[in-house]
Amino acid sequence: MSAAPASVLFVCLGNICRSPLAEGVFRSVIEARGFGDQVLVDSAGTGGWHQGSAPDPRSIAIAARHGIDIAGQKARKFRPDDFERFDLILGMDRSNADDLRALAPAQAKNRVHLFLEYANGRTGEVPDPYYGGPDGFADVYRMIRDASGALADRLGWRASAPLRGQASSMM
Ligand code: 4NP
Repeated sequence: MSAAPASVLFVCLGNICRSPLAEGVFRSVIEARGFGDQVLVDSAGTGGWHQGSAPDPRSIAIAARHGIDIAGQKARKFRPDDFERFDLILGMDRSNADDLRALAPAQAKNRVHLFLEYANGRTGEVPDPYYGGPDGFADVYRMIRDASGALADRLGWRASAPLRGQASSMM
């Protein structure tokens, strides 16, 4: 990738808990920094059980508590053409990233990364909060919020950046 990615897809298992939250939080970060119209942001699940469903009420609630509305998003299953449509495909946990790499054509495997590793340069996963309590969703929110800021920084979408073109030197 020579220029900053202009399209980012967040992927988890069900596309109802973690990746819709990442989609909403990351979008709000880049909108707040003035880059919202330059980036396509979406989310998907490697599994299709919840296709068409709204995010889990616990994800909607934690986002709303921080002023972010994700209630209108709809779950969908990851599709092979997502490898062509998105520059950056970020799995929430290691099994999501492994599943995506197994599906990816050779030329697209380098688009797949673990979200926290790509954003922060540190190993780590966003754990599946589905079967846990509300604390799990608060932890997941914090991880996603921190990593979304770090991801926007890494891609050159800084609040004070005068020119987006400078981002390419960051990659
Ligand atoms: P997500 O969480 O991958 O963060 O959306 C899950 C949601 C649903 C299921 C598993 C994980 N499920 O097995 O239905």
